[in-house]
Amino acid sequence: MALNKEKEMVIKQVITEDYAVYNGDSMEVIPELIEDKSIHLSVYSPPFFDLYQYSSSPRDMSNCKSYEGFMENYEFLVKEISRITMPGRHSIVHCMDIPIKGGNGFIDYPGDIISMHAKHDLVYSGRRCVWKEPYRIARRTMSIGLKHAQVIKDASICNVAGADYILDFRKKGDSDPPISHSKGFSEYSGSNPPPQDLVDKYSGWEDNRTNRLSHWIFRHLASSVWMDINIDSVLAYKAARGSDEEKHVCPLQLDVIDRCIDYWSNPGEIVLTPFMGVGSEVYSAISKGRRGIGIELKETYFNQAIRNLKHAKDRYLKTQGDLFAKENSDTEPASTHKFRTCKRKEEINYKEGGIKLNHCNLGWDLTMSVEEKVDRCNRCFYYSAN
Ligand SMILES: C[S@@+](CC[C@H](N)C(=O)[O-])C[C@H]1O[C@@H](n2cnc3c(N)ncnc32)[C@H](O)[C@@H]1O
Repeated sequence: MALNKEKEMVIKQVITEDYAVYNGDSMEVIPELIEDKSIHLSVYSPPFFDLYQYSSSPRDMSNCKSYEGFMENYEFLVKEISRITMPGRHSIVHCMDIPIKGGNGFIDYPGDIISMHAKHDLVYSGRRCVWKEPYRIARRTMSIGLKHAQVIKDASICNVAGADYILDFRKKGDSDPPISHSKGFSEYSGSNPPPQDLVDKYSGWEDNRTNRLSHWIFRHLASSVWMDINIDSVLAYKAARGSDEEKHVCPLQLDVIDRCIDYWSNPGEIVLTPFMGVGSEVYSAISKGRRGIGIELKETYFNQAIRNLKHAKDRYLKTQGDLFAKENSDTEPASTHKFRTCKRKEEINYKEGGIKLNHCNLGWDLTMSVEEKVDRCNRCFYYSAN
């Protein structure tokens, strides 16, 4: 039987010692392939409802018909993130307020994400705000409300160059092992690096109490506002554009991801992104001596991610010596986790109780009755697309 590409759970996969990446729908791949309490850290940007449309696939969350339907689907994923995250460890979500079409204000997307995580044992632990330069945002979005000419004419419809928010959620429980920075911080990602005299004097400094370089970096990472994220610190992405896409994918800045990985994980640990795009979170994880798992629905982005990941291990070799040798030399590998390969290749076509559900299992719960599943399917955006 010919396989229907849209219905295969994993269309392509690449599994190496350092990473496992799957071209598929994260709503299916995570429940099927990722074990309970196996992830040390997740870092990701979810789709921003319909602000950017990445593809025409009905599985693409940005194609949900309503914000409520979108959040319902996203909640299914958050529940899964809670299941797979180790106790005491973190899930970091990059997001922003979503402008409502026609200049009708903003949706408080970060607020809704916070409420949703609270329902699933993921404790909101604060946010970092990434400052955006208004002129750049005005050029990128062509928003009238950010034009100087508009403030001269009528400021009543001017708005804000919205910040990005880095939301931090901690899974209930105690972290074992702890996230231990036993040698202090020495790496910093951002356009305002530590003063050279601190770098010269304190690199390799043994006493954490007096290591002023580590204190300087820590104070910047712990700040509620990150002013010096280099907006251009992104991986190659333009070649990945598909013909069905309205706008380019907007990769997350490596400066942001690097900080999260440095702060909330130990070398050798596993970092997940359910929305991999062109591979940024997995790339940063590997370049920093961690292991990565990424899932991406769109084939052209997935292929670009594979190209980008080929260079991940070289990232620091040119400038900073062999980071891997340095970080892992005196420690046991933190994770011996074996990445799983998807073996399921049949069409997903459920028949239960005589009712044919031509459907993925998106949004299903193991405890649901057939009737509840049918009801869930009838309300799903996939259903209307089928
Ligand atoms: C905000 S972008 C992430 C960009 C990524 N952080 C990077 O730096 O490239 C969201 C991504 O989610 C993907 N996506 C949307 N729905 C998905 C789904 N159900 N499963 C997996 N990926 C999905 C989109 O194709 C898009 O690449």
